[in-house]
Amino acid sequence: DKPSVWVSRPTFPDVIARLQPHFRVVEESVERTLGPADLVAKLASHDAAIVGMKERIGAAEVAGAKHLRIVANLAVGYDNLDVAALTAAGIAASNTADVLNESVADHAWALLLGAARRLGAAERWLRAGQWHATEFKGWLGTDVRGGTLGILGMGRIGQAVARRASGFGMPVIYHNRSRLPEATEHECHARYVDKADLLREADFLVLVLPLTPDTRHAIGAAELAQMKPTAVLVNVARGGIVDDVALAAALRDGRLAAAGLDVFEGEPRVHPDLLALDNALLSPHIASATTGTRRAMTAVAVDNVLALFGHGPHAGHPPNLLNPEALAVARAPLSPP
Ligand code: GLV
Ligand code: GLV
Repeated sequence: DKPSVWVSRPTFPDVIARLQPHFRVVEESVERTLGPADLVAKLASHDAAIVGMKERIGAAEVAGAKHLRIVANLAVGYDNLDVAALTAAGIAASNTADVLNESVADHAWALLLGAARRLGAAERWLRAGQWHATEFKGWLGTDVRGGTLGILGMGRIGQAVARRASGFGMPVIYHNRSRLPEATEHECHARYVDKADLLREADFLVLVLPLTPDTRHAIGAAELAQMKPTAVLVNVARGGIVDDVALAAALRDGRLAAAGLDVFEGEPRVHPDLLALDNALLSPHIASATTGTRRAMTAVAVDNVLALFGHGPHAGHPPNLLNPEALAVARAPLSPP
């Protein structure tokens, strides 16, 4: 009787197959969002779970999950997990840090460039058959080269965003809870500034910070008011870090030139005020969505589950463990087969 793993969404079968020798694997075959009761039931009947951001695992889910030993999140951000509740119950939690840094940084740049050059609206116009002649002064955008790149949240993804700036001849400034070591700043050609200077000086501001109670609405009406009216804002972090209503108002009133957004408050709903704006370039939370990266994220989740149960090269030491303290808490026996 092998322990069982629940995989909450279709991923990559050949990657998940690495679990087969050690686990009974139950994979959801269609993409759907479970209601709270179904989620509680799923977590209650398995020993491990590989979940996505859509699964919100809080105190109620944890309370029912008597046999669960690990939740492997298919994302680097883990605001969908109540880590304190998991830890108290002795349930390990892991994320997919690092393997998605470069893909997310690429997407941040795609949004930055696309918003600066008005790609979304221009494409809609072309597809709508409105291209009868090219106006010399039509579709004028913002030059990216030489502009100041500001980065709020200078973790590994922020650093990957910064490294790409040298090809565009852009000075890079950043703000972060803690300042980076000098060697890292030097490697990223990035200068530390306080948040007010970041907002004031950035021509392009990229947000790459985790969503926590402290970072909620880190960019709201007051912060937007400090930015240049010619600036472009890019969010590849989490919805909720930006006040979407305040952002839409700034974009509509010309107090901000454009925005490139991959994440939204309350997604998959997108605020109608943003949907109505031509200077907002919008993507459906796909910054890590390349074949290579989504496969790598799946592999990381698999590695963490294997490791927690004592298998594979990291046996006993899940490499992306978010709560090592959980391992010290006595665990319930495995679920009955
Ligand atoms: C995606 O948003 C992630 O956190 O990996
Ligand atoms: C633009 O398309 C140009 O020809 O300058």
